[in-house]
Amino acid sequence: MKDLFDKIYKDKGPLGKWAEQAEGYFVFPKLEGPISNRMKFKGQDVITWSINDYLGLANHPEVRKVDAEAAAKWGSAYPMGARMMSGHTDLHEQLQRELAAFVQKEAAYLLNFGYQGMVSTIDALVSKDDVIVYDVDAHACIIDGVRLHLGQRFTYRHNDMESIEKNLQRATKVAEKTGGGILLISEGVFGMRGEQGKLKEIIELKKKYNFRFFVDDAHGFGTLGKTGAGAGEEQGVQDGIDVYFATFAKSMASTGAFIAGDEEIMNYLKYNLRSQMFAKSLQMVLVEGALKRLDMLRTMPELKEKLWENVDALQGGLKKRGFDIGTTQSCVTPVYLKGSIPEAMALVKDLRENHGIFCSIVVYPVIPKGLILLRMIPTATHTMQDIEETLEAFSAIRERLENGTYKRLSAAVAEAMGEKI
Ligand SMILES: Cc1ncc(COP(=O)(O)O)c(C=O)c1O
Repeated sequence: MKDLFDKIYKDKGPLGKWAEQAEGYFVFPKLEGPISNRMKFKGQDVITWSINDYLGLANHPEVRKVDAEAAAKWGSAYPMGARMMSGHTDLHEQLQRELAAFVQKEAAYLLNFGYQGMVSTIDALVSKDDVIVYDVDAHACIIDGVRLHLGQRFTYRHNDMESIEKNLQRATKVAEKTGGGILLISEGVFGMRGEQGKLKEIIELKKKYNFRFFVDDAHGFGTLGKTGAGAGEEQGVQDGIDVYFATFAKSMASTGAFIAGDEEIMNYLKYNLRSQMFAKSLQMVLVEGALKRLDMLRTMPELKEKLWENVDALQGGLKKRGFDIGTTQSCVTPVYLKGSIPEAMALVKDLRENHGIFCSIVVYPVIPKGLILLRMIPTATHTMQDIEETLEAFSAIRERLENGTYKRLSAAVAEAMGEKI
C-alpha cells in the first residue's frame, strides 16, 4: 500500500516543481515598504504593477487613520464568535445596508473572505437536483464551490454566447427531469485577461430560459460603472443579477467580502451560509475600515477618475507601441508575448533588475504553452512618469526577446529544467 505522503515526497505538484528556481523571486516574492506605486524588491526600487489596490486606498492617510483608531478602540479580536451566536453588531448591519445601497440591491450579507464566501454561497444556493452552468475560465473559488455540488454541472466556453445557450438547453433538460433549478455563474471581470463577463447578453437569455444569475465582480466593484457599482452597472443590467458578489481585497484594499441581492435571498443565505454560520465574525477593525473605504468610494469619484486616466494611458501606450493586450475591457492589463518559460524567467529578471519594473508573470499551464503573459494592474497612485518608464522598459525587453538575448541567457536554466526553448 502507498504512503499517503508519497506524492508530497516525489512530486511537488504543477507549480511546486518550480519552487527551487522560482521561490522568493517569481513566486512568494517579498515586496517591502509602504504599499504604493513604488516599493522595494530585494533592496531595489521598483514600480509595482501587481497589487490590486485599484483606488490607492491601501496606504491612504485617511484610511490608515481610521484603521489605527479602530484597532485601538476594538483590538483585533472583537467581536468573538460567529454572527449567529455572539459575533453580531450594529456596525455589521450598517455596513451591509451601505454596501447594498452602493451596489443598488435591497440587502447584503458580509463574508469573512471572498474565496471561502464564494464557495459557501454556491453551496448554499444549490441542492442536488439543481444544475450549475459556469464559465470554463472561472476563478478557483467558483470552481471549488461547484466541486461541492452533488448534482449536475456544465461548463461553457469562455464568454461564448453560443456555448452558454447550448449549456442552458442541456441544463434545462436535466432540471426538468430532476425537478431542480439552474444557477448560472459568471465573473463581472475576468481577472487574468480583463474581459468583462457578457452580463447583458446572459441576462437577455432569461427571457428564453429559467435560471438565476450569480456574478463574482471582484475586479469590477469600485472600478466599473458610473458610481463604481461594478460590471452590472457598467452594462446597465445590475437589476438582472440575482446574487452579486465582491471582495474587499481589491478596490477596498482590505480583507472580507459581501454578497447582495433581494432581501429574501439574503435572509435565506444568512441562515444557510456555512462559512459564516460556523466561523468567527468579521472583526470590527475590518468593518469600520470597510465603512470608511466605502464612504471614500461614494464621495471621492476623483479616485476612480485618476485610476482610469492611468488605465487609458497605460493601455493606450502599449497599443501604440504595437503590444498585444488582448481583449481587456477593464483595468486589468495583460501583455502577451511569445516565449518559453525559461525565456520568461530571464525577461522578468531583466525587467525587475535593470528596469525597476515589478509585474506578475503568468505562464503555462495557466495559459497556452509558448505564451508569456505579463499582467499589470494600474492604480490611482501611479503617475505618468511610472507609465512612461514602464512603456520604455517594455519596448526594450521586447527587442531583447526578439533578438534571442533571453534564449541565450536562459539556456543553462532550460537545460537544468529539461525545458525546450
Ligand atoms: C474573481 C475573484 N473572486 C474571488 C476572489 C477571492 O477573494 P478574497 O481574496 O477576498 O478571498 C478573488 C481574489 O481575491 C478574485 O479575483
